Amino acid sequence: MAYTSPFNFTFCKFFGCWCIFALTYLFFLAGVPAVLDWTDNGFSLCFGVNHLGPFLLTNLLLERLKSCPPSRIVNITSNVHKYQKLDFADLNYNIVPLFTYFRSKLANVYFTQELARQMERHGVTACAVHPGYVGGDWTSQFSILFRIVMYVITALFFISCEAAAQTVIYCAISDDVLQHNGGYFSDCKPCKLRPYVQDAGIAKKLWEASEAMVGLNSSAREHLASRTR
Ligand SMILES: NC(=O)c1ccc[n+]([C@@H]2O[C@H](COP(=O)([O-])OP(=O)(O)OC[C@H]3O[C@@H](n4cnc5c(N)ncnc54)[C@H](OP(=O)(O)O)[C@@H]3O)[C@@H](O)[C@H]2O)c1
Repeated sequence: MAYTSPFNFTFCKFFGCWCIFALTYLFFLAGVPAVLDWTDNGFSLCFGVNHLGPFLLTNLLLERLKSCPPSRIVNITSNVHKYQKLDFADLNYNIVPLFTYFRSKLANVYFTQELARQMERHGVTACAVHPGYVGGDWTSQFSILFRIVMYVITALFFISCEAAAQTVIYCAISDDVLQHNGGYFSDCKPCKLRPYVQDAGIAKKLWEASEAMVGLNSSAREHLASRTR
């Protein structure tokens, strides 16, 4: 569920908390590739769909996840996260298509870390996963020339969807993951992050900025908690 319209927000708010009685796994697989566009709410499409959507839905389901331990959240990021840094003066950065995508994937990693920190005493484990490079529908949004080039690259270098699913499945079921709450995984193992990507201060700052962007203030949280009890 991506945060692209007021309808989605309303859907999450009302049905997400009331109709789901047991919630053990939350996977965030949906994502948009490097395209310059805006959501209906005026967010950069990459940041809105790839980060704010999962952020909001997770928060709306947080009480339910806490009440169903042990539960896991798996966020699909990408190893391209390391090629950009977040600009807090312009989180909706929407200028160079690749960079908007890279930043949204970096946001996935920070979000996972802060989520794990906040949930560690509640039996909720969060992981960020780089699935590997896979050919797929995402090329359909680009020109025919780009698609032909990607077809060749995919055939030569990319992995199958089945192979890409392995780390996601590993993070969902392996007990090893419990020792790396908030970690970043690739090839079914935890991987080291660049120092600035491990900065807990930035992760917290992004959390707070994202709360403000989607309108999650303390009274909204209390309301959600009371609805979930
Ligand atoms: N492919 C790669 O090489 C690669 C590498 C690293 C990380 N990733 C990450 O893996 C995830 C999946 O990528 P993919 O390659 O499988 O992409 P994909 O084939 O284009 O699939 C994207 C999925 O996201 C859904 N989606 C797109 N926009 C949405 C929106 N606004 N609201 C709700 N759902 C939306 C699509 O739904 P519809 O089918 O209904 O449009 C589709 O199911 C993404 O997070 C991506 O960043 C991919």
